[in-house]
Amino acid sequence: MALNLQAASLLQSAAAMHKDVKACGSMKETSLFGAPIGGKFEPVSSLELRRRKVAVSPIRAQTAATTPAVTNSKPESKKTARKGNVIITGASSGLGLATAKALSETGEWHVIMACRNFLKAERAAKSVGMAKENYTIMHLDLASLDSVRQFVDSYKKSGRPLDVLVCNAAVYLPTAKEPTYTAEGFELSVGTNHLGHFLLARLLLDDLKESDYPSKRLIIVGSITGNTNTLAGNVPPKANLGDLRGLAGGLNGVASSPMIDGGEFDGAKAYKDSKVCNMLTMQEFHRRYHEETGVTFASLYPGCIAETGLFREHIPLFRLLFPPFQKYITKGYVSEEEAGLRLAQVVSDPSLTKSGVYWSWNKNSASFENQLSEEASDPEKARKVWEVSEKLVGLA
Ligand SMILES: NC(=O)c1ccc[n+]([C@@H]2O[C@H](COP(=O)([O-])OP(=O)(O)OC[C@H]3O[C@@H](n4cnc5c(N)ncnc54)[C@H](OP(=O)(O)O)[C@@H]3O)[C@@H](O)[C@H]2O)c1
Repeated sequence: MALNLQAASLLQSAAAMHKDVKACGSMKETSLFGAPIGGKFEPVSSLELRRRKVAVSPIRAQTAATTPAVTNSKPESKKTARKGNVIITGASSGLGLATAKALSETGEWHVIMACRNFLKAERAAKSVGMAKENYTIMHLDLASLDSVRQFVDSYKKSGRPLDVLVCNAAVYLPTAKEPTYTAEGFELSVGTNHLGHFLLARLLLDDLKESDYPSKRLIIVGSITGNTNTLAGNVPPKANLGDLRGLAGGLNGVASSPMIDGGEFDGAKAYKDSKVCNMLTMQEFHRRYHEETGVTFASLYPGCIAETGLFREHIPLFRLLFPPFQKYITKGYVSEEEAGLRLAQVVSDPSLTKSGVYWSWNKNSASFENQLSEEASDPEKARKVWEVSEKLVGLA
């Protein structure tokens, strides 16, 4: 009953915000969950072509607002004959699988599906018709730092160059009453979504640096729900990393709180906090390594893909109402296929080489550089998250 109320109140709360947004004259974006509050951007033309082939038609990126300062990577003048190699974490379902499918269908990419369940990944690849020669499945459990290290070792030993890394996998535990933990004892959402990816990305950065591919990229999937400058980001509980006291204490629920800000456990907030860490990490990578490595660092909000496995832990009523609510009320809904094409663009589109950008899409499915919330773009907080995280994963 309490959970039903929670779902109902979430939907009500978002509906109330939808009313508010109608009064917000400065918003040109009609998609409730796709726009920053007061954000400015101009619609650009629809790009139907990319539905047929990823990266055929360059997407015109909007430059209305972006954080932090960005620089362009080298233009893609040199072309290599070989396929690009892209690692996608969590490619066994939802956004990751749709992206793997979209990229493999171009014939220009070999997708390394980095998944915790090998058989599920194999079945998933087959179910969407991916051709055997276009993908490899490798075991990776982001909830274990040992597994991350083993994955990196195996990848390096394979001798395959690495051109793009997509940190996509995530868990979302909105109904959990008690925290659960990773192998090293970190609260599961932040441990998986942020710390596992943080170690993975750090250990593979040199491989990206060494790639001779025309454009090498490191992409960390973000979310609107971590951005409190949006309507969706204002649905309680809101993301807030506070002074990072819980993170600094190891998020273990024993010596420290399982929550980054040191508060009481809240599964939905832990997910949102982890997404703020993802977006801060991307920007810190950009500041520290873009110039030196030539790697493009990017994050994105692909839209509300209301039917993915991400909501598997939610109550049945929520899972029933959420997709139509997103489709017909907020209009923030995107299909898995469309979201996969969006992420595939960030992987491969020659016009999306700008580093340090958080990409979003407007109602015409045209990409633009979106604005992150104050917290999700705070360079000081990004530095601190980076420094505490590298201690937790054993890099400092
Ligand atoms: N759905 C949305 O509306 C939405 C909106 C904005 C952003 N996103 C972001 O999109 C990304 C993908 O989410 P989704 O909606 O596609 O959810 P999903 O269908 O549940 O996919 C999540 C993937 O992560 C994998 N995963 C979970 N824990 C893992 C672990 N310990 N090690 C390795 N892989 C693990 C899952 O593997 P299994 O198949 O084995 O469970 C699954 O492949 C996430 O970063 C999410 O934050 C989603």
